[in-house]
Amino acid sequence: MEKPEQHGPRKKLLRALSGEVLDTPPLWMMRQAGRYLPEYRATRETAGSFLDLCFSPELAEEVTLQPIRRFNFDAAILFSDILVVPYALGRDLRFEEGRGPLLEPITAADICSLDRAGFHDRLQPVYETVSRLSNSLPAETALIGFCGAPWTVATYMIAGHGTPDQAPGRLFLYQHREAFEDLMRILSERSAEYLIRQAEAGAEVLQIFDSWSGVLDEESFALACVEPVRHIVTKVREKFPDIPIIGFPKGASEFLEHYREKTGVTALGLDWTVPPNRAKHLANQGCVQGNLDPLRLLAGGSALERGIDAIMSKLSGSPFVFNLGHGILPATPIEHVEAMIRRVRG
Ligand code: CP3
Repeated sequence: MEKPEQHGPRKKLLRALSGEVLDTPPLWMMRQAGRYLPEYRATRETAGSFLDLCFSPELAEEVTLQPIRRFNFDAAILFSDILVVPYALGRDLRFEEGRGPLLEPITAADICSLDRAGFHDRLQPVYETVSRLSNSLPAETALIGFCGAPWTVATYMIAGHGTPDQAPGRLFLYQHREAFEDLMRILSERSAEYLIRQAEAGAEVLQIFDSWSGVLDEESFALACVEPVRHIVTKVREKFPDIPIIGFPKGASEFLEHYREKTGVTALGLDWTVPPNRAKHLANQGCVQGNLDPLRLLAGGSALERGIDAIMSKLSGSPFVFNLGHGILPATPIEHVEAMIRRVRG
């Protein structure tokens, strides 16, 4: 397929992110490459471990393309994981079936010995995946690169695994404030470099996933979510002044306006608890992305239809990107995804 012109409008996702109101919104899904797809499960089996899949440019390219071939989404998101950053800083990382990620919990004393020298070498396969994708994607499909926000990445580094409320991370912040701030600085700096390399390799949009920003009080949110992301956005923009950046501070609720204003992100990713009226209000200040409850997609039927209609009726007329309010769940039937796409695209 022909590549689009470099100038002039442009892919649907880029148009919405620059504030344009479209007849139908661009559409993609968080975690769109994943276990709900039989072709993903097949590739995943040949790859060995999940990390082997993330670090194999051929296979990571393949699974990134799978949902594009099947559903023709308006955007592809690089297939990788947010935890490749601590891995590239020398932390031990494994993914166990059914248990999610497992890391060696980091202590305050470990932070100064994070290995920064080999960082980009270890991430080279990811940059290669991005570069391959920028050549293989259809001309109308935007390529999204991403990283985890420092707070969310740190919660896994500190606890060593997922937890329901990130109590270990919060306690670490309160008990080892200086070490915590050092960790935020290192992760912010490295994450910015990581995103810049992805943009150099061909990523056209960047998303910063802060899946755990909703567990923090006001002061901690400013310290652990706003300041690190502000640093990342500032640093990326020094190199790529115009690249759209989507911030997804899941659960940030009351803090969403403050987050957008202080971090300078282009668009706000909204989780499904943000009411359509509030989403509309936020969309008046710039593009928003979201925010269908992934369980509505899993349930299908009228629950799915009502969820889609509530979003579409409020946000049509504003710049917005249709997405889920969090990642698609592995048990989601493919027919429900097809039904969602038909309804959103009309
Ligand atoms: O969106 C995409 O399609 C791109 C790929 C992507 C993955 N993880 C692949 C993945 C992205 C953007 C992520 C982000 C990510 N990873 C986040 C932030 C977004 C969110 O979901 O909150 C977080 C917190 C992680 C850490 C992580 N990785 C967890 C907690 C798990 C286990 C949960 C699970 O679904 O198993 C993973 C593993 C993971 N990352 C899988 C995929 C497809 C499943 C692993 C497998 O295939 O066996």
